[in-house]
Amino acid sequence: MPVPSPSLPLASRLLRWTGAAWFVAAVVGQAAFIVFILAFYGLRTATGNFAGWNEKPLIDGYVAGDDLGNLVFIAHVLMAAVVTLGGLMQLWPALRRRLPRLHRWTGRAFLVVAVFMALSGAWLTLVRGTWLSEVSAVAILGDAVLILVFAALAWRRALQRRFEAHRVWAMRAFMAVRGVWFLRVGLMAWIILCRGPVGITETLSGPVDIVLVFGSYLIPLAVLELYLAAGRSPRIALKIAAAALVGLAALYTAVGVFGTVAFMWGPYL
Ligand code: HEM
Repeated sequence: MPVPSPSLPLASRLLRWTGAAWFVAAVVGQAAFIVFILAFYGLRTATGNFAGWNEKPLIDGYVAGDDLGNLVFIAHVLMAAVVTLGGLMQLWPALRRRLPRLHRWTGRAFLVVAVFMALSGAWLTLVRGTWLSEVSAVAILGDAVLILVFAALAWRRALQRRFEAHRVWAMRAFMAVRGVWFLRVGLMAWIILCRGPVGITETLSGPVDIVLVFGSYLIPLAVLELYLAAGRSPRIALKIAAAALVGLAALYTAVGVFGTVAFMWGPYL
């Protein structure tokens, strides 16, 4: 058995701290996302002001006469608040430890709603024809496929009582479900850091758009894998490298969260 070097616990702690820093930025940003969805879409829907959905820039949103399209759109959007909240509750370690029954129920609800989000999003893209460019449509459909695969595997591993594998697939599902949120955060952080929409076009098909539409789920998934591998590994260098990357991701996320609140959602509330 290798004797642990004195800096191994420090590297592990560094990794946990940066992971926690990212989680805090994500909690703040996703809470803001939920508030925006309820205050903007929830309020207009509850008061019957369906045309008001289009008071912010959308591709289609409300379309007069398209009852089914409008229904799927608003169900998708309101469920986005539920899946975002459910995902956050699932990842909260204290809640998982203290209220395991609640964890199981919110977990089932999260996976069911995640599947609904992927299917309704795919319907809006493919059947309603709501997309900005072929490349952005392919990218978001890729995210939908990953959500379906990860949710199915997380569910299966839980039924098989393989809880460690279940936890890992559930975290992957969480990351894939966050794809559309990461996209908004990623775009805003990029625009703020570059002081303008460098490489970004109105149809989401510029070079930076392409990196971000695929990267919005592939990059967080890759960082998650590195974080998990570094957590398991006894190699100090790997832990420190992963901690540095997660720390950078936390900073980038924090800048993007500020941008979404200040420029993307705040002005419409
Ligand atoms: C699973 C997590 C998802 C969340 C939390 C989410 C959230 C949202 C939100 C909040 C909107 C309203 C638009 C806005 O105000 O910016 C929206 C619209 C939309 N989403 Fe999703 N979405 C998710 C997944 C997907 C997927 C996987 C697809 C495609 C396969 C998709 C396709 C769409 C489309 C086409 C619209 C309509 C946009 C428009 O009419 O302008 N979504 N989504």
